[in-house]
Amino acid sequence: MDLISLKRAAAEAALAYVPKGCVLGVGTGSTMIYFIRGLKRGWVRGAVPSSKGTERALRKRGIRVLDLNQAKKVRLYVDGADEVNPSLQLMKGGGGALTREKILASAAKKFICIVDGSKLVKRLGKFPIPLEVVPMARDQVAREVRKMGGRPVWRRDFVTDNGGEILDVHGWKVADPVRMERRLEAIPGVICAGVFGKRRADLLLVGTPQGVEKFISVTGIRW
Ligand code: A5P
Repeated sequence: MDLISLKRAAAEAALAYVPKGCVLGVGTGSTMIYFIRGLKRGWVRGAVPSSKGTERALRKRGIRVLDLNQAKKVRLYVDGADEVNPSLQLMKGGGGALTREKILASAAKKFICIVDGSKLVKRLGKFPIPLEVVPMARDQVAREVRKMGGRPVWRRDFVTDNGGEILDVHGWKVADPVRMERRLEAIPGVICAGVFGKRRADLLLVGTPQGVEKFISVTGIRW
């Protein structure tokens, strides 16, 4: 089975978890496109997008778009990821939407991550760690990252929806995602690191050739 079919299978499985009438946080990326396509008009009260691209896709489907400040409570957030470890901690930001994604993931009561099986890793870090940075601080942040042993590469000609820039940091295997996230986000000029250590997924749906596998994080949330 090709990756596209596996992404689609995970996305379609997630639709069954969306409560009618809820405020839904909607992530960004190729897997989320299938999820958005499957959302029925009128099913959710409103959706808070994690990027301008997702906002456009939602509007196209006739789904009411809400701003997080209006929404107040987000019942569920659904999003893809670039890597997932066995503790359901994530690497995100391949599409550059990491900051809004982290905000929505932390605002939401429940977080479902949908991926194809190729995203599962023992340790995060094969995928370079994206850092969204304040543009005037880009070189300064890069120097700090080099001092910490990382190899930052500037994602040229890319500006985030927040007006930020992205450094992709290569060369780190992330043994302790919470610690790494804290260290990186403590560098002045870093807006957000793509390591989701503290706010992990509550439920992971993985598209595999054998079907969609389900992994629940030990958060005490009932599904
Ligand atoms: C966006 O910045 C990323 O965090 C996406 O969530 C991630 O890249 C999703 O990957 P797919 O395109 O494979 O769904």
